[in-house]
Amino acid sequence: MDITEAIAKRRSIRKFLDKGIEPGDVEKILQAGIMAPSAKNRQPWKFIVAGAKDREEMVRVMRGGLEREKQGAGLFKGAGQLLAWAEHTFRIMAEAPLTIFIINTGDKLRFELSPEEKFQEMANIQSIGASIQNMLLTAHALGLGSLWINDIYFAYRDLCSWLGTDQELIAAVSLGYPAENPQQRPRKALETVVEWK
Ligand SMILES: Cc1cc2nc3c(=O)[nH]c(=O)nc-3n(C[C@H](O)[C@H](O)[C@H](O)COP(=O)(O)O)c2cc1C
Repeated sequence: MDITEAIAKRRSIRKFLDKGIEPGDVEKILQAGIMAPSAKNRQPWKFIVAGAKDREEMVRVMRGGLEREKQGAGLFKGAGQLLAWAEHTFRIMAEAPLTIFIINTGDKLRFELSPEEKFQEMANIQSIGASIQNMLLTAHALGLGSLWINDIYFAYRDLCSWLGTDQELIAAVSLGYPAENPQQRPRKALETVVEWK
């Protein structure tokens, strides 16, 4: 598939068929992830793949974390509606045959950073974003649907402990054969986001 077509036609998919992904396709997706550019070529990523056999436990861990957030004992204060959205995302993840968790191997989760640490973290997260987008486009080209997920932050500590990492958990990507064909979601008009100097 032509890259411009993949960019134009990729959609976030939130309904998946109950059909596993070929291991060879998972490998192609991960391979695309490691081909991304990265700041100073640090390649600050690690991918933890949770397949069908891990799904039940993954969902249990996420629900436990979300419950803690609801009781006000988590990282967020007053997350309100965000918690309901996270619950919805967790339901999607429970349906997806496979989820990849993406770890930033260059940084630990810290809320107080020096300017140097902050800029390094910004660079690492950009590199990881490029890697994730490579994986999403490759999945699309293979006929798979994907969802890039940040709602995992609502079960952050529980997931990090389950994944066995003390590094920064950046995102998850759920993958599977699409059971929906959504229209393109709205985009801001080019002239409203581009300024020519
Ligand atoms: C960094 C990032 C985090 C996202 N987190 C979630 C999420 O937790 N749950 C969800 O349903 N969608 C999530 N999305 C998907 C966005 O909602 C989606 O990309 C956006 O609405 C545009 O739709 P499209 O991907 O179909 O073009 C996320 C996307 C990005 C890039």
